[in-house]
Order: sequence, then structure tokens, then C-alpha cells
Amino acid sequence: MDSVQDVECYVPESNEFQELLQSLPFERGAMCNPIHLYKGIWYRAHSLEAAMAFQRHFQARDTDIILATAPKSGTTWLKSLVFAVTHRSQYPVTDQNHPLLTTNPHGVVPFLELIYRNNKNPDLTSTPPPRIYSTHVPYTMLPESVQTSKCQIIYLCRNPKDIFVSMWHFGNMLLKDIPSSQPITIEESFERFCKGITMFGPCWEQALEYWKKSIEKPEEILFLKYEDLKANINSQLKRIAKHLGCPFSSEEENEGVIEDIANLCSFKHLSNLEVNKTGKLFFFQVVENNVFFSKGEVGDWINILTPSMVEKLDQVVEHKLNGSGLTLN
Ligand code: A3P
Repeated sequence: MDSVQDVECYVPESNEFQELLQSLPFERGAMCNPIHLYKGIWYRAHSLEAAMAFQRHFQARDTDIILATAPKSGTTWLKSLVFAVTHRSQYPVTDQNHPLLTTNPHGVVPFLELIYRNNKNPDLTSTPPPRIYSTHVPYTMLPESVQTSKCQIIYLCRNPKDIFVSMWHFGNMLLKDIPSSQPITIEESFERFCKGITMFGPCWEQALEYWKKSIEKPEEILFLKYEDLKANINSQLKRIAKHLGCPFSSEEENEGVIEDIANLCSFKHLSNLEVNKTGKLFFFQVVENNVFFSKGEVGDWINILTPSMVEKLDQVVEHKLNGSGLTLN
């Protein structure tokens, strides 16, 4: 195993965190990044430091909305849907000036890990309600105020086979910008993914934890599946709006507002907008917005994974979920 110092150029802000980091198990993840195991979940060093600052300092309000996902499970889509639903009186969906026409969804709903990466104790008090943020952290890493307030959490899960394929493509797309980098082979990436060694992984652990919490606290946590959004976006939009306390009125339903939101946020529409074809944003590095839009389909794994890979990953996930009532396929 490489030492942390050999491969991680991230310089933690505090000595305390540096010491913690050096005490944690360390591996290269499914996307080849150095990642560290903290309380059963794998993090990039900067994400862990930010997640810990978020946990320590973020003060939730009852009106907040937190979107929680594993990477590559449809976060970009969920951000656009929730933003469009919650801001529909301020920005009518068919308005030619709707923010989603000129801003990537990550620009309208920021990641808490990025906010707290840049500033370990930011002042978020002037942001008007509803404040909408997203995160990849597990439920247990959420600040106490998020867990105890009435703020709303929406969790979106996705079939791990599709998550893996999406992540593998994504990782290789990012590597294209790094001179002399080698593509990540599917075999090495897959082996690590099956062991759960992936950013914010294992994704099935995270999904199971949010699933259990959503059963315990249905008023606060809405559990969604990417596949259900794809199968029937209108009914899922109604669930989202109802959960967030802004259900669609019958007038809105008759006027086709739900269909308009579905169309505005559809893969076809968003991925063809100029901002998402040519724009860039700062993620953990500068990335082109188009990397968040690949195929947007259910079941693309069938074209990529071998039967033995499918069997292996299915077994890992089924073993973990066994008896829970949650299925991820
Ligand atoms: P694929 O790589 O399978 O195409 P995340 O936003 O969490 O990074 O997830 C990215 C995945 O969501 C990618 O999946 C991407 O294509 C898909 N996606 C992005 N926008 C979408 C949309 N509006 N509708 C459906 N899928 C979308």
C-alpha cells in the first residue's frame, strides 16, 4: 500500500486532522483516488475534513432541505427537480429566465462538502429559506441539528451496478484532463467497488442506513430510487412536492406544471443546454458540466459488466441488504 504522503497532495488545515488522517486505513478507491476509511465509510481527505467541519458547525433550520445521495446516483437530476419544485412560484417553470436554463444544477444547489471545504465555518445565515444543500455523507455524519430539527432530507439511491458503471466512466472522463494519466481499467475499479472502497462508499451501506431512517422518520426523510424517477417522474414529483410541504394544486396539475418540471429537468433537455454542454464549474477540481450527463439510463450495466461481475456485485449487495426490505436492483 502507498503511504498517504506519497500520493495525497492535500494539506489538511489542522494538525489534529492531519494526525487523524494518518491513523486511518488508506487505499486507492474505485476511481483511483487515495481514500481513507473513517467510521466504516471511505473519504477523500478533503471531503472528510469538510464533512467533519459541516458536522461540527452547520446549524440546520426547520425550513432546510438536504439532498443526500451516493456519487453517481442521480444527484444532478435530483437537484434540478427539487430546485424547480420549491422555486416554482418565484421562477415559473416555463419562464425563459429560469435559472436552470443558464446554471448547472450544482450551481443552484451546492454541496455542503464543497462549502465546508472552502471555509470550515461559513456564515450561511443570510441564505433565504428554503436553503437547499446536497451531501454525500452517511446519515450518521449529518450534524446533530439536521438529525433533530424538522429539516427535510431527500435521499436518492440507485442500482449499484449502474452507479459503478457511471462512476467508472466519470473517473476516466476526469482523467482525460490529467496529462500522462492512464485510464482506470474496469477490472481494478470493479474489484475495489465490490469491496466498498469508493468515495463515500460502500453505497449500499449508505442507502441502507438512510432507508432505515426513512422508515423511522417518514415525516423528515423521503427515500427515492433513480429507477422510480425514470419509470414515473410525475408521480415521484408529486411525492417530492408533498414531502416538502408544497404539494401541487389541482390548478397546477391541470395546467401541466408537473409535466413542465419533468421536461425542464429531463436528461434530454438539461444535457442539451449550452451551459451544460460547454460550461465548467469547480467541483473538487475544475470540471466540465457535461461530465454530469452521460446516458441517464437504467440498466446500462448490462452493456459493460460481464456475467461474473454481475453475479459478484449482486451477491455483495444482496448479502448486505438481506432481510432489510430494501432492494437496489
Ligand atoms: P450515467 O452515467 O449512468 O449516464 P450524479 O449526478 O449523482 O453524479 O449522477 C450522474 C448520473 O445521473 C449519470 O448517469 C447521468 O447521466 C445521470 N443524470 C444526470 N442528469 C440526469 C437527468 N436529468 N435525468 C436522468 N439522469 C440524469
